[in-house]
Amino acid sequence: MVPRQQGPGSGFGIVTQGYDRLGSAYEEWSNTLTSSKREMHTEILLRGLSPGSQVLDLGCGPGQTLQKLAEKFTVTGVDISETQITLARDRVPSATLIVAEMTSASFPAGCFDGVAAFYSITHVPRSEHARLFRRIYRWLRPGGLFVASLGSRDEPGSIEQDWLGVPMYFSHWDAQTNRRLISGAGFELLRDVEEATEEDGQPVSFLWVVARRPAGSTLLRSSGGRMR
Ligand SMILES: C[S@@+](CC[C@H](N)C(=O)[O-])C[C@H]1O[C@@H](n2cnc3c(N)ncnc32)[C@H](O)[C@@H]1O
Repeated sequence: MVPRQQGPGSGFGIVTQGYDRLGSAYEEWSNTLTSSKREMHTEILLRGLSPGSQVLDLGCGPGQTLQKLAEKFTVTGVDISETQITLARDRVPSATLIVAEMTSASFPAGCFDGVAAFYSITHVPRSEHARLFRRIYRWLRPGGLFVASLGSRDEPGSIEQDWLGVPMYFSHWDAQTNRRLISGAGFELLRDVEEATEEDGQPVSFLWVVARRPAGSTLLRSSGGRMR
């Protein structure tokens, strides 16, 4: 799967180049963050799904979450940055790892029991978010869980010129719109919590969501068996 819009001016191109250049510096920085929400939401999958479940991590980065999930599940990681995927492969050799842009990744309908997306969807242009939520819904089996950090403030799309030393693209909806889009995709929103933290002295806030594809929902397979 080839990331699309890789020109230097595109949001996806900026994100790819940024995380490729950051390499292991992203993980070193993320280890300094004080929020425990990522671990808490990883734990929700670990407790909520059966051993051997199929779990997808969208924007897996260097694979810290994948490593925890792999203790109990069969895991797949997707990331737009080849460098981050290489780091994840070194850390979790058992994982299936794919270099791909998440909104153009393709998986069979109903093939995952759980999907995680921590600190990654906020790098995707927000005009794509509703469609991405619908695709995640289709990739989940009925009863499957989606855990993610989303934006909680309105950010139509901008480039921060010096984010950890590289230009970086961010785009997201406010919390209320995110709740509406998640429900609009068909999910039951089980939990949504806003958390404001500091990143390098700057206030940043996320909406942490736990959503479920309703157990009674109908699994529709496309003719090719893959839902795009
Ligand atoms: C802030 S890091 C988060 C990494 C990891 N989820 C974590 O919790 O530490 C964001 C990751 O998402 C990836 N990413 C950003 N936009 C993406 C996209 N459109 N498709 C796939 N991966 C993307 C980046 O390359 C990066 O590795």
